[in-house]
Amino acid sequence: MSKLSVIIPAAGSGVRMGSDIPKPFLKVGGRSILEHTIAKFLEVPDLVQVIIATSEDHFLEVKAMFEGAPKNVEFKVVEGGKERQFSIYNALKEVLIQADLVAVHDAVRPFIRPELIVECCQVAAKYGGAVLGVPAKDTIKEVKGDNMISNTPDRSGLWQAQTPQVFQRELLVKAYELALKENIVGTDDASLVERIGGEVQMVEGDRENLKITYPIDFKIAKLIFEAE
Ligand code: CTP
Ligand code: MG
Repeated sequence: MSKLSVIIPAAGSGVRMGSDIPKPFLKVGGRSILEHTIAKFLEVPDLVQVIIATSEDHFLEVKAMFEGAPKNVEFKVVEGGKERQFSIYNALKEVLIQADLVAVHDAVRPFIRPELIVECCQVAAKYGGAVLGVPAKDTIKEVKGDNMISNTPDRSGLWQAQTPQVFQRELLVKAYELALKENIVGTDDASLVERIGGEVQMVEGDRENLKITYPIDFKIAKLIFEAE
């Protein structure tokens, strides 16, 4: 099986959540959201490296999470950037050369199931890239500046992209380097790979893999953790 390195961006300030503590460091069920997320990746058999991007204020806290972690996995902390893409770019420079695949996974998606990570890895090894997602449940509208609806795309072809997004290492590095050179900032990793012609397949996941973004998401997350 292909060896996997995971990059976990955890350097955002969480404007939409509006809490004093950045989202990845909020505690639920006795552990931070970031720790819950890391634990899910440690269940993936071919994991060789975990890289966390965060602000320097959190370096010590993150390093403490690595104590007692398996010795066959390398852990690294890197400084985050102003945009998610720059946080990931900083981490990409540290990816081990022996990693065939690189996964990017939001720190704030602690409900990812390890089997789905493995499925994304298998698809990425075959095609180049894999994105976990779910069919769009709401009708999506395109609107103009004045909120007038300009288009209603056919929902049957629309998916909501989640993470992990997994890629062959060299393809992802190339996509990030070209994006930087050409001043492109994408909202996810796959879009940078797609724009250079990389093949990325959607893998159907589940709706429990929510991204803790707004206070309502954190409320739901607490309920899920309590139920477990
Ligand atoms: N992230 C990051 N570096 C940034 C911005 C975001 O590492 N400059 C991380 C966040 O910590 C989070 C993930 O990317 O784990 C997904 O981003 P998002 O949910 O948008 O988090 P925030 O950017 O923190 O929230 P907001 O957009 O509401 O400010
Ligand atoms: Mg953000």
